[in-house]
Amino acid sequence: MTSPTARPLPASLVTAHAERARSFNSAAAVYAAARPTYPPVLFDAVEELSRRPLAGARVVDVGAGTGISTALLRSRGARVLAVEPGEGMAAEFRRALPATPLVRGDGNHLPLASATVDLVTYAQSWHWTDPAHAHPEAMRVLHPGGALALWWNTDAQDVPWIAEQADRVRRHFGDDRANKSGGGTRTLDADKLFAGAPFPPEPDRIARRVLRWSRRVPLDTHLANVASHSLFIVHGEESTRAFLDRERARLREVFPDGLVEEVYDVLLLVVTPR
Ligand SMILES: C[S@@+](CC[C@H](N)C(=O)[O-])C[C@H]1O[C@@H](n2cnc3c(N)ncnc32)[C@H](O)[C@@H]1O
Repeated sequence: MTSPTARPLPASLVTAHAERARSFNSAAAVYAAARPTYPPVLFDAVEELSRRPLAGARVVDVGAGTGISTALLRSRGARVLAVEPGEGMAAEFRRALPATPLVRGDGNHLPLASATVDLVTYAQSWHWTDPAHAHPEAMRVLHPGGALALWWNTDAQDVPWIAEQADRVRRHFGDDRANKSGGGTRTLDADKLFAGAPFPPEPDRIARRVLRWSRRVPLDTHLANVASHSLFIVHGEESTRAFLDRERARLREVFPDGLVEEVYDVLLLVVTPR
């Protein structure tokens, strides 16, 4: 149960979601090497919308994974504690950021005292939580005047090769709704993000931004990035290899120099509770 009013999901969907949430652990090294980072404008926007500088802020980065977001928050001067449930991801994190504190835990039960942090961040990880628990937990650990920031790198669907690849993913999985992102299409819709939360954020306390950026990476890195998504990890190696082989041939036609221009829209939502 998520709340007295939320309808429970069918057991098969709950199991599939949990399996995808855990799946990253088996692909942590590929994840660390191939996943995109986040652009500096994202952190400028987090500062602006949370109305406080990152330098010196006490931040808890939840679902920290291999440390991509944690490292960037640290480079802006934040004092970051990482929280990560997965063993494989935590091991990769410790290899990359041995001096940064990490505790095993998840967003539904934060292993932190109340009113102890200035900012709670979820980079690409809020969708794995149950907002009925994760939202009150975030509110509990924040100091008065603190903020909750959620963000996702999403593929820019108005770029023709990216839209075509998304079609190929749907065809490969034989499912109209299949996409690389766990838990469905990314959204900044608060009703969906905070579904089941007992006291969801008030609309006038929510700010949003969409920030476009891009990176050019070797074709192999792009394909490893695709393969590091939970949809592919849980689907099995053989099927993923077949998809990637076909993808390699198609993308060579689009990017004859072997460098793929990945274009992202970062979706950012910041809650500043009263
Ligand atoms: C897509 S990765 C994002 C990692 C990192 N924040 C980044 O930006 O690269 C999602 C992470 O969420 C973690 N996760 C899964 N279930 C979670 C939960 N209930 N609460 C917090 N994190 C969770 C996974 O273990 C994984 O490390």
